[in-house]
Amino acid sequence: MSHLPLRIAIAGAGIMGRAHAEAFLACGAQIVACVDRNADRAHELAAASGGTAFSTVAEALREKPDALSICLPHSLHFDAAMEAVDQNVALLMEKPHCITLAESRTLRAACSQRGVLAMAGFTHRFLATSRTLKACIASGRLGRVELAVDRLVANALGDHAPAWYRDRALAGGGIAMIGMIHSIDRLRWLLDAEITRVWALTKTPTGSSEVEQTALALLEFSNGAQASLVAHRTPAPGHERSHRYEIYGEKLVAHCAVGSFALQEIELVGPGGQARETVTDDRPFITEIQEFTSALIAGRNATPDLLDAEIALGVVLAIYESAQTHQPISIQEFLGATATPNSA
Ligand SMILES: NC(=O)c1ccc[n+]([C@@H]2O[C@H](COP(=O)([O-])OP(=O)(O)OC[C@H]3O[C@@H](n4cnc5c(N)ncnc54)[C@H](O)[C@@H]3O)[C@@H](O)[C@H]2O)c1
Repeated sequence: MSHLPLRIAIAGAGIMGRAHAEAFLACGAQIVACVDRNADRAHELAAASGGTAFSTVAEALREKPDALSICLPHSLHFDAAMEAVDQNVALLMEKPHCITLAESRTLRAACSQRGVLAMAGFTHRFLATSRTLKACIASGRLGRVELAVDRLVANALGDHAPAWYRDRALAGGGIAMIGMIHSIDRLRWLLDAEITRVWALTKTPTGSSEVEQTALALLEFSNGAQASLVAHRTPAPGHERSHRYEIYGEKLVAHCAVGSFALQEIELVGPGGQARETVTDDRPFITEIQEFTSALIAGRNATPDLLDAEIALGVVLAIYESAQTHQPISIQEFLGATATPNSA
């Protein structure tokens, strides 16, 4: 159990580091350290949030934070997390929490041996529309879910994407690793079922990018449901980021659109007519970080946890394997030593 206010260190003072710092402050926590190798960014965030600026995680950990929020390029997540766990510091890890299954297993084992709390930043679970849909599915209002169709399109040029998103060594993959991983986790959580098989195609444009800019995946779930996922980074100028998905239940169909977190729509279509909800004031990072801080204060586990993160990462890596081998991939075999909740 931790004392209040919680002392938080932020690793990575970029887009997500700033969003996390703001949400931690809104949850009553204190920011004690801001780490970035770009000194201007570290100082800017420290000045805005009240912490001290550092260039390394090791220096930030000397401030004895209760938790480290990891908002770095993907390939740096594992080392930063292991440094923190070594000092019994709790972790909030942006997705993907690691870029290999071996890293993930080592980290999970270290957290479990030391009893260190770790939560994965699958923000899409905390969107207002996701929570509405989760309640509809759990209550049986949609009926048995047969099919999900999910499409994420981001802009390759004018959007916020930092350059390292396209660097394989730092990002570990392209649009599947950074974007589709959210859809994978959200569907697994919404359907309360494990992904059993994956078929996939990916496309990497020659010369312009080191990582895939398109990923197409077909998923099969342990409850018989199926899903088709598309993620694409379009070079077309002026295209806004858009994320749409449909969940087809036996009784109702749910249509969801998440243009940005600040504009979400959910529509339920069925025999009783249509019900539509538009959300304009959602603060999913605060809801997510409330789950983390309340778990830390209560000394309980937080969800999504590192097993959820490892399964989502495993499915992304299986998508790459399927695209390369032109074969369907059995997720249970692919995950191997990862015991999935429904695999017993
Ligand atoms: N949950 C979400 O909705 C969501 C949305 C976007 C990004 N993300 C995730 O957040 C994480 C960070 O992404 P971002 O968009 O904020 O990237 P970003 O580039 O804006 O921020 C990363 C920061 O890390 C710093 N950095 C790089 N190498 C470093 C090093 N060796 N030591 C210290 N600092 C270093 C960079 O200078 C940069 O300021 C990624 O895991 C990404 O996938 C999550």
